[in-house]
Amino acid sequence: MKILIIGGGNMGLTFARSFLATHIVVAENMYILEKSIEKAEELKKQQIGTIYGEPANYIKEADLIILAVKPQDIKDLFARIKPFVDEQQVVLSIMAGIKIETISEGIGTKKVVRAMPNLPAQIGVGMTVYTSSPEVTRIELVTVQNLLNATGKAVYVEEEKMIDAATAISGSGPAYVFYFMQKLIESATEMGFSKAEAEMLSYQTFRGAVELFNKYDFTCQEWIGKVSSKGGTTEAAINTMDGKKSGDHFKEGVFAALRRAKELSENA
Ligand SMILES: NC(=O)c1ccc[n+]([C@@H]2O[C@H](COP(=O)([O-])OP(=O)(O)OC[C@H]3O[C@@H](n4cnc5c(N)ncnc54)[C@H](OP(=O)(O)O)[C@@H]3O)[C@@H](O)[C@H]2O)c1
Repeated sequence: MKILIIGGGNMGLTFARSFLATHIVVAENMYILEKSIEKAEELKKQQIGTIYGEPANYIKEADLIILAVKPQDIKDLFARIKPFVDEQQVVLSIMAGIKIETISEGIGTKKVVRAMPNLPAQIGVGMTVYTSSPEVTRIELVTVQNLLNATGKAVYVEEEKMIDAATAISGSGPAYVFYFMQKLIESATEMGFSKAEAEMLSYQTFRGAVELFNKYDFTCQEWIGKVSSKGGTTEAAINTMDGKKSGDHFKEGVFAALRRAKELSENA
């Protein structure tokens, strides 16, 4: 299978490296179109595939075209690649906020898969939510799913509006986790731990909790119950957080991300 990745930046290269590392695609079948001359020169030194600086007929050879440029660059990109895209080619877009319809109209293909990956894809533990236009066949979707699985886990959704929801949950989600880790680190240093100790306490606590959740079939609420005892320290913390409506405020933040994702989709 021949893959063309357009945009050799953070995400484009994350995808390229994941496909190569999992042997789903060999370097001979990987094409990367990168408009930045410096980046393209740098990429040519790495054995990551064939690097192009300009669109041309090679685009037609790709079984899958992956769009990984910034949303603000699409107008220019679409105009440049449209003459070389066949309407039967499958296009996978990972661009935030760009609708299937916009891509379909922009480059003249009906087979569009739209995905929202997240940052941990860089180390193979990403979470991607994706959907597709009805013209994409089941077999083509399975191929895309296998590719997305190379970067972590992938979930298919029927409705495109769920991509905005995924943006608010798993797309922005790593930042929420870092936010909480940061607050735990700040609390630990204020209590007297060194920065290194505070980071280790915070990191290992998050990791341990996530791994417990993964290993056993208990809900988060049940796990909170297991850590807490009547009149104890955890109960004191949770009661204070509940009293200050910290949970509600957190959810307000997540819904603000959803509103913003919708606004960006509408205005793109
Ligand atoms: N980073 C994330 O965590 C994340 C998560 C989910 C989704 N995404 C989506 O992934 C996409 C890429 O993000 P990124 O962080 O990887 O951006 P990035 O690092 O800026 O990479 C985009 C690359 O595409 C190049 N490019 C722009 N126009 C081009 C064209 N016409 N032809 C060929 N190459 C072109 C850019 O070159 P120049 O530098 O010269 O402009 C840049 O090297 C975005 O749409 C974003 O919404 C990112």
